[in-house]
Amino acid sequence: MQGNVYLAPMAGVTDAAFRHIAIEQGADFTYTEMVSAKGLKYGSAKTASLLAFADNEKEIGVQLFASDADALTSSINTLLDNYAGRIALFDINMGCPAPKITSNGEGSALMKNPELASRLIKAAVKVSSKPITVKFRKGWDEASINAVDFARMAEESGAAAVAVHGRTRQQFYSGKADLDIITKVKQSVSIPVIGNGDITCAQHAVNMMNLTGCDAVMVARGALGNPFIFREIKHLLRNGTELEPAAPQEKMTALFKQAELAVKAKGEPNAIRQIRKHAAWYFKGMQGAAKLREAAVRLNTLYDLRALIHNVENID
Ligand SMILES: Cc1cc2nc3c(=O)[nH]c(=O)nc-3n(C[C@H](O)[C@H](O)[C@H](O)COP(=O)(O)O)c2cc1C
Repeated sequence: MQGNVYLAPMAGVTDAAFRHIAIEQGADFTYTEMVSAKGLKYGSAKTASLLAFADNEKEIGVQLFASDADALTSSINTLLDNYAGRIALFDINMGCPAPKITSNGEGSALMKNPELASRLIKAAVKVSSKPITVKFRKGWDEASINAVDFARMAEESGAAAVAVHGRTRQQFYSGKADLDIITKVKQSVSIPVIGNGDITCAQHAVNMMNLTGCDAVMVARGALGNPFIFREIKHLLRNGTELEPAAPQEKMTALFKQAELAVKAKGEPNAIRQIRKHAAWYFKGMQGAAKLREAAVRLNTLYDLRALIHNVENID
């Protein structure tokens, strides 16, 4: 893993097109959307499509979710057989709060079952020639905050790094991320700790690093429609000064490039359906944003997007 400013995995968001733009804007490391180990084991085409790489992505973190060691190890073996040169590491998702994941004992449900979590990590480490990392939360709920023990368990089981989102599963994405828990994790393990939660501007990333001592930061929602956050963070880290935010014109150029890349990878109907939400995020804070967001819902083709962007450029 190079550098210390990462784009977090986000299902339905961090496809190869978005990652391409994030890397151009300075993200040091990227992950796939979470991929079902079971889906890979049973050869699901939809699952396999989540593994497309961006052209400018030298290496990637493949994030897998699983509660079954056989599915996990067989998917790692398959991935190594096919893409070993492009994979930097496998990350195991132990933080996803979605009921359809946790009801299968996957994602953050593993925080309630550290023995199984440990078995999964050990099994993955045993078969993988690439490092295994783990991403998890503060705990399942306020009554069971166990990120520190969980991180120690991960380290003892052979994990090469951990990423910690400072919220419980019960919080989903609400409330504030707790930086203290990240500090405590950092003080309790000797593997690298990646801090995650509520980084929506460069200063937040610097605060996360200074307050917790974490080795790297991971940005999720703060990068939605704002891949420029990566260059802003790196500029602040390097120079101690804030970069000017991206101008509307530059935002629109990035959005259109992302859409073109997505169309190339997935075909126009599928790509444009997914680009609608990205467009709405890119429009945030711009003049006439409410109207633009309404129009984004109706996009069907690259041509529609080009026309909408043309309107924006005439507004500014
Ligand atoms: C739309 C969306 C999809 C997400 N998908 C994943 C995922 O696939 N794997 C994962 O580990 N976390 C996922 N997350 C969680 C983020 O990676 C991150 O831990 C969380 O949003 C907190 O970071 P933030 O405050 O910077 O958004 C997702 C979050 C969002 C908002």
